[in-house]
Amino acid sequence: MTKTLTTDPQSVLAGYQRHLFQCAPPLYKEPLVLTEGRGIWVTDAKGDQYLDFFAGILTTSVGHCHPEVTQRVAEQMAVLGHTSTLYLTEHQVEMAQRLAAIAPGRLDTTFFTNSGTEAVETAIMLACQATDRTEIIALRHAYSGRSVLATNMTAHAAWRPLAASIPGIVHARSPYPYRCPVKTPCDSGCLDALARDLEEAIQTCTSGKPAAFFAETIQGVGGYIVPPEGYFAMAADMIRSYGGLFIADEVQAGFGRTGSRWFGIEHWNVEPDIMVMAKGIANGFPVGATTTRRDIAEHWKAKTISTFGGNPVSMAAAIATNEVMVREDVPTRAAVRGAQLRKGLDTLAHEFPWIGEVRGMGLMQALEIVEDRSSKTPSSAKAKALLEAAKQEHLLIGIGGLHDQVIRIGPSLLVTEEEVDDALSRLRRACSTVT
Ligand SMILES: Cc1ncc(COP(=O)(O)O)c(C=O)c1O
Repeated sequence: MTKTLTTDPQSVLAGYQRHLFQCAPPLYKEPLVLTEGRGIWVTDAKGDQYLDFFAGILTTSVGHCHPEVTQRVAEQMAVLGHTSTLYLTEHQVEMAQRLAAIAPGRLDTTFFTNSGTEAVETAIMLACQATDRTEIIALRHAYSGRSVLATNMTAHAAWRPLAASIPGIVHARSPYPYRCPVKTPCDSGCLDALARDLEEAIQTCTSGKPAAFFAETIQGVGGYIVPPEGYFAMAADMIRSYGGLFIADEVQAGFGRTGSRWFGIEHWNVEPDIMVMAKGIANGFPVGATTTRRDIAEHWKAKTISTFGGNPVSMAAAIATNEVMVREDVPTRAAVRGAQLRKGLDTLAHEFPWIGEVRGMGLMQALEIVEDRSSKTPSSAKAKALLEAAKQEHLLIGIGGLHDQVIRIGPSLLVTEEEVDDALSRLRRACSTVT
């Protein structure tokens, strides 16, 4: 069946160039104008189909336009589309209960917002009130969002439009084994050095009384940096010994993405004091969530509202997404399909010497691209060539890392065995064109 094309990609591009901020550039030399999505597939305005292995930045967690999510949203919009936080709805309560059921340990109380950035802001404001302190320890290579606070917590120059403008945010060294800030090659002794660095940051760059240590459980924009065993236990003990709280950012790594567990932090057996979530929580609907223990939440004394936070339509999307996730046991699926994907990527790394490292957990896997393995010089040029070549193979993947040198892969958590094999074949063909 021939699709009737109604969107002209050239006029969309011209309209973007004329009327939208140019600071959020689309991927690719020739940007893709998408018009439809279904499961793992998206269609562009020319009618071409692409296998989506980046899921709108790890967000369409159960696939584009999942029928149950779509139906629930349409039904809710027809009944009650908006309330604000001035009125109660059963949807907010149900979603908060669902989060309490899967969140680690005693985390059972939630504030809903509309984005990861707002969830981060909420967590920091809460930690400051709960400790009566204001200083934050974040990590280098972090990405926390696009507000003034979140860009100050972000530690990638390219994502920081302002010089540091909020005092009291200091960045400890990133637990990044492939580019270990302590020594090469990284070994088990580096954990002690990272602990000394964290403590030194607290002792020398703060008043010695930090409100919180804030970290992504896997640094996403940084290039899926997986901390070594024992890092989070050390960091949580350290911050608590100085009277601060541990905040885990699960915006990318949450909701089964890392395989076998609902949240990334559970792999390290650490219970955070506060956890932030967004992206995959509602399969593309704008939902952010900050979840904590009741006793910590009670420290928020000032009034606050969120006009759109916990909106009934967004909550309907989140509930339907969560129902699908629980029924389909996405943590187990991500572990199984993630192992398949990882095996295929490891095979590619044997074949192509410019793949410096394959890393990640579950269905959050990355390739760090280098000029050559001995120098480990980051190769943004090769990574971008691979991104474009994958597009020619009708495979969508992502890019990240401090130097745009990391290929990021994160498909829907419902991806099938055949789809993973298909993506690996396309990626292999794309790799063979990179020189
Ligand atoms: C780990 C992490 N935290 C926070 C954010 C901010 O989320 P949002 O873009 O929804 O504001 C992002 C976005 O990529 C992220 O990756």
